[in-house]
Amino acid sequence: MLVGIDAIAIALPRRYVDMEELAAARGIDPAKYTLGLGAREMAVAEPGEDTVALAANAVERVLAGRDRRDLGMLVVGTETGVDHSKPVASFVHGLLELPRTMRVFDTQHACYGGTAGVMAACEWIASGAGRGRSAIVVCSDIARYGIGTAGEPTQGAGAVAMLITEDPAIAAIDIGGSGTASAHVHDFWRPLGQREAEVDGHYSVQCYLEALTLAYAGWREKTGGAELARICYHVPFCKMAKKAHEHILPASTFETMVAPSLALCSRVGNIYTGSLYLGLAGLLDAQSADLANQRIGLFSYGSGCTSEFFSALVSPRAHEAICRAHLGEVLAARTRISVAEYERIVEAREPLGTATGFAYVGSESKQRRYVRNERSAHTR
Ligand code: COA
Repeated sequence: MLVGIDAIAIALPRRYVDMEELAAARGIDPAKYTLGLGAREMAVAEPGEDTVALAANAVERVLAGRDRRDLGMLVVGTETGVDHSKPVASFVHGLLELPRTMRVFDTQHACYGGTAGVMAACEWIASGAGRGRSAIVVCSDIARYGIGTAGEPTQGAGAVAMLITEDPAIAAIDIGGSGTASAHVHDFWRPLGQREAEVDGHYSVQCYLEALTLAYAGWREKTGGAELARICYHVPFCKMAKKAHEHILPASTFETMVAPSLALCSRVGNIYTGSLYLGLAGLLDAQSADLANQRIGLFSYGSGCTSEFFSALVSPRAHEAICRAHLGEVLAARTRISVAEYERIVEAREPLGTATGFAYVGSESKQRRYVRNERSAHTR
């Protein structure tokens, strides 16, 4: 049975900053951000434009025109949830009025959480436990580091929603072929009650590469080293994908095998759990017609750490399916803001645990305000 990604949709914050302008404001050579890190633009989430709102919008888009009665599972991968107990998935389930009979939960392990959801959904369907039903997996996060820190240019925000089905129109996952690698390390973490992440950036690069070596070897052993046309890597910043690729394969293959997956990421920044899948969406948007019936590799890394190298077979219907995500329109709908406006937005962010968010579900004219910490969460 073929199981995998049938549809993808993304939701982005409505504002972004230009990286050359940010570098100039920090007194840094812009080439460090554009060439050194590979960043062009960075998404900026406003107060109220939170993980739930981004996830709900992405799900609304991926389900457009589809029969919701076929859904059996909703998983949100996130490391920037809005409550210690109530999952983001529960808010999304309520906001979109999805079927009561669904299994609904979040998965967390830094940037790996989305892949945990993808694997849970694929294995649920492939095992037969889903009884023909489909799953939605959403990766939704807001990456925040302090103003003026080394991590500042590697922020971003956004959500990627994927419909997981039998006979998928985008790509069938090679279930059981994954190589995995984990270790108890402190490369990146966010203590309870703290909004900004702590990161030992250079150490995180080292942990990522060590995990990749082991996970890639595991995937090769299980699949016999199937031929890969492209590889999408987890992208905390675009240059990381180059470092990763050159760590396992000849550097001369980077432009062909990896660069096409980075164009979209370079215009959004790090979206943690969704970064790998944003890269996949960008790759397919650019090259799906050429990739039909070809196999691609995917490497998911979550600090802390755990990781998975897996592969997927691109469907001949992928081009038609990715066109429905209208990625160009989603990007074009954003507004560029100045560094001063970005700083005002960062300073205006609500303290953690405050009550409300805005879910711009469908369109701004239909925006709904939802309440996070009342006994019975509801929309208004
Ligand atoms: N022109 C061109 N390139 C330049 C440059 C210039 N003027 N100045 C610096 N660079 C290059 C450096 O050579 C380096 O490239 P390299 O790694 O290929 O050698 C790159 O820009 C970054 O410079 P560096 O001095 O290493 O930057 P930094 O110490 O400010 O930190 C990160 C960079 C990525 C470590 C930091 O932004 C960070 O911690 N980000 C968070 C990472 C993360 O999220 N990790 C967790 C998930 S894996």
